[in-house]
Amino acid sequence: MDTLLRIAALMALLCLPACERPEPPDAVVATDPARASAIASEPSEPEPDERTRTLGPFLAEHWQLPIAPQGPAPEGWSEAEASLDPALCGGCHPLQYADWSTSLHAAAFSPGFSGQLLEGSLAEPAALRSCQTCHTPLAEQQPVLASGEPSPHYDPALREQGLVCAGCHVRAHQRRGPPRRADATAAPEPVPHGGFEARAEFQQSRFCAPCHQFFDSEGPNGKPVENTFAEWQASPHAARGETCQSCHMPDRRHLWRGIHDPEMVRGGVETALHRLDAEPGHVRAALVLASVGVGHRFPTYVTPQVVLEIWLEDASERRMPGTRRRAVIAREIDFGSFTEISDTRVAPGESVKLELDRPIPPGAARVVARVTVDPDHFYRNMFEGLLPTLDDPEARARISEAHRRASTSTYVLAEHTAPL
Ligand code: HEC
Ligand code: HEC
Ligand code: HEC
Ligand code: HEC
Ligand code: HEC
Repeated sequence: MDTLLRIAALMALLCLPACERPEPPDAVVATDPARASAIASEPSEPEPDERTRTLGPFLAEHWQLPIAPQGPAPEGWSEAEASLDPALCGGCHPLQYADWSTSLHAAAFSPGFSGQLLEGSLAEPAALRSCQTCHTPLAEQQPVLASGEPSPHYDPALREQGLVCAGCHVRAHQRRGPPRRADATAAPEPVPHGGFEARAEFQQSRFCAPCHQFFDSEGPNGKPVENTFAEWQASPHAARGETCQSCHMPDRRHLWRGIHDPEMVRGGVETALHRLDAEPGHVRAALVLASVGVGHRFPTYVTPQVVLEIWLEDASERRMPGTRRRAVIAREIDFGSFTEISDTRVAPGESVKLELDRPIPPGAARVVARVTVDPDHFYRNMFEGLLPTLDDPEARARISEAHRRASTSTYVLAEHTAPL
């Protein structure tokens, strides 16, 4: 299978059930009267599935994806109040708009995402809708209805803007948000857009789960491909009451920095180079990486790769051949067979170590250790494989741009040296 088909098969496996909820099965036809009465006396509500149990009633309704059309705005609302355009929300909520504009949520209709939807299996209406459920969740962002017919609600400009404010905050034109800050200054009267519904769920981790946890697939080796919410639940951070929001939206900021941001990652992991005791003529040193402030595995997703390296250099800072040791932190999946090849990610509170233990070659002057983060490791290779298969010029342009971005996102997280 080519890579695109593999991804399509994977996403079909992972996403279709989560995205387009299947119709409930037809009523059971029971011929045995005892069984019929047993069925009749069963509660009519089915057992809630894991997603519904996790989300609770409010969020299960809030996160029915894709989100239902907003419908006509209430009478008397100004154009700004009635609009779903983030720039118009930003007229009154400038800080959230400025923050969001720099975030990856605003970039969720990225070239790498949208380029895949133009040609091949993911351009089919069902796949298109399925992919868009988390990246562009509003009905107004869907070009086609579930039936495959063009959608009468479709707004192409809104689709390009990715995960917009309304995706998280607006249902049937009603604003929903966290409870007002205790120290907030008085709001204008009457509050625009008919005020808002204050909900504590906006401050809970499960608010983020519908898109950051794949509920409907056990995944390779018993772990869903995206397992961030479950990893957080099992972490000491959850036990201490630290939520996704407290780390990714401190003081309610809409920045959502993650693995693409060196400062965010430096805030979550500590690295050090330790010299260990060794016999004369020998060097023993260890590069240690500790997850101190990451609320899930480091990294949580299957696409980044973190590389640890340690080697010896001579007095002119040239690497001495044959001295380098290397280890990779990542979860690697073979999407063809849907099996896990390895999982070396670091659990919250844990640390990993790469040792150099060898005779000191003549001319060696120091030990060097480096940690490199390659946030788009999987995608870079995937886009490279995809490009030659594409005919559509727009798809080619978007995937080339995605490949360029994935090739320039790697950065050195930390480098340490110690003299011999
Ligand atoms: C005409 C100005 C205006 C526009 C346009 C506007 N808002 Fe508001 N919004 C307000 C005001 C004023 C409040 C009340 C703030 C307060 O209570 O202090 C508010 C409250 C909110 C809240 C609740 C904040 C909280 O404390 O939980 C949310 C969420 C919200 N707006 C989202 C949006 C979104 C999303 C859009 C665009 C789709 C939007 N607003 C457009 C003025 C506006
Ligand atoms: C259940 C929600 C969900 C669905 C459905 C989904 N994604 Fe994503 N996608 C995410 C999340 C969340 C991330 C970021 C993951 C992370 O960094 O941990 C992401 C990241 C990506 C990225 C890398 C970032 C970028 O924009 O370049 C690509 C490409 C992508 N998804 C493509 C797809 C495609 C294609 C489909 C359909 C086959 C799809 N996604 C369906 C949630 C989803
Ligand atoms: C990914 C979902 C998401 C998106 C997209 C999003 N928000 Fe929010 N917003 C939240 C959450 C969650 C909170 C509550 C955070 C907290 O209390 O820790 C919040 C809080 C707010 C508040 C209250 C802020 C305060 O300081 O009291 C406003 C106003 C708001 N958002 C407006 C917006 C606007 C405007 C946009 C688009 C420019 C937007 N949001 C985009 C999830 C989102
Ligand atoms: C409606 C779906 C949705 C919801 C809800 C959502 N996200 Fe996301 N999130 C995404 C998608 C899709 C991406 C990938 C965007 C891209 O790069 O294409 C993403 C990306 C991110 C990233 C950046 C990942 C990176 O690669 O660095 C962070 C951090 C993040 N989300 C945190 C949160 C938090 C915290 C919440 C809850 C307050 C939340 N998200 C709610 C869909 C969602
Ligand atoms: C204790 C703080 C903390 C908590 C709690 C936390 N995160 Fe993170 N998160 C981080 C740090 C630090 C990073 C950067 C390192 C990394 O990529 O793992 C990160 C990275 C990410 C990324 C980037 C993708 C990747 O592969 O790492 C996503 C997406 C994300 N977090 C989502 C979430 C969601 C959703 C929750 C809640 C279920 C959450 N985070 C809870 C600190 C936290």
